[in-house]
Amino acid sequence: MSFFDGVNAIAGNCSLVNALLYAALSVGVLKLTSLFLSSASLILDLFVLPSVNYKKYGAKSGKWAVVTGASDGIGKEYSLQLASKGFNIVLVSRTQSKLELLATEIESKYKVETKIISIDFASDKPENYETIKQTISALPVTILINNVGQSHSIPVPFVETEEQELRNIITINNTATLLTTQVIVPVIIETLKKNKGTRGLILTMGSFGGLLPTPYLATYSGSKSFLQAWSAALAGELAEHKIDVELVISYLVTSAMSKIKRTSMTIPNPKQFVKSVLASAGRRNGAQERYATSTPYWTHALMHFAIENTVGVYSKLANSLNLKMHVDIRKRALKRAARLAAEKKD
Ligand SMILES: NC(=O)c1ccc[n+]([C@@H]2O[C@H](COP(=O)([O-])OP(=O)(O)OC[C@H]3O[C@@H](n4cnc5c(N)ncnc54)[C@H](OP(=O)(O)O)[C@@H]3O)[C@@H](O)[C@H]2O)c1
Repeated sequence: MSFFDGVNAIAGNCSLVNALLYAALSVGVLKLTSLFLSSASLILDLFVLPSVNYKKYGAKSGKWAVVTGASDGIGKEYSLQLASKGFNIVLVSRTQSKLELLATEIESKYKVETKIISIDFASDKPENYETIKQTISALPVTILINNVGQSHSIPVPFVETEEQELRNIITINNTATLLTTQVIVPVIIETLKKNKGTRGLILTMGSFGGLLPTPYLATYSGSKSFLQAWSAALAGELAEHKIDVELVISYLVTSAMSKIKRTSMTIPNPKQFVKSVLASAGRRNGAQERYATSTPYWTHALMHFAIENTVGVYSKLANSLNLKMHVDIRKRALKRAARLAAEKKD
């Protein structure tokens, strides 16, 4: 090889190295720009943009909202806060007496109408959906809140999950949510046809349990993850009908289901949580990378955003930290159950 051949070979290698360096730099700049833009949109969503005005969904014009799992916890707050915005409310859940009490409270406080549907979604009877259909078919419904849900009584290895618990979780969280939505969507579409300019809204309760694969809550985790894909798919289908569809992701909230009574920076009560949902319907709030999805409560949003942009929701690290946390919760729950059983004996 001549001297000049050697220089050309080195120059050739250098231009390859330079090209690789430029490519790496461009990818880095692209990633940083995208992180900067999604951080900026997160801050806008959470702290800058004004609260949603429910006039666009027909507030104070005789329109109806249907809330499932309405008699307690988060669903009760959806019912109260939507009534306070001027919607009539169809309250759907299991216990007639709790529904009656809430209906009376809503009617006297907010001067709107209510209807009650008392059904057990776990029973998975076609009559459940027939009852919903008959009650709402003549009502101008614009909002559906798919809130009803069940989790495991305590964290449990998947193979030890009782069959009835497994079936109830899938039936309530998935089958009931889908069949209820199938009954209500045509009514919303009909209402919007008669009320040009009004939009529809369907919110479905997701969970961090579905955002992150959660060992020891595997069935619940899968059921909520199912709702993520289903809800986003539905959002695409219903956009042409002017119906906003959104999966609402939440970390812990104080309630009977979470068995947590004390609020903290990361655990709001249902009132605080629902206020954040309704204020920001239609925005991403932490779920910046997902279509038709929101993580509305501000600390939940920051947690979601941080996980997505560091370890990722599907990583081995996230999975093993989640496993450790739920194994510990199970141990504590079993200890507590044993202590209560011993106290009962004495
Ligand atoms: N709390 C949390 O930390 C948390 C976190 C993430 C996501 N979420 C989700 O948020 C939603 C609401 O949870 P929550 O904590 O508010 O629950 P909750 O306090 O236990 O309330 C559940 C509501 O659903 C009703 N319900 C339960 N089983 C039913 C059935 N088989 N048929 C009809 N109605 C039934 C209950 O009615 P009765 O009062 O008559 O029993 C009650 O009104 C769920 O989808 C849950 O997965 C909650």
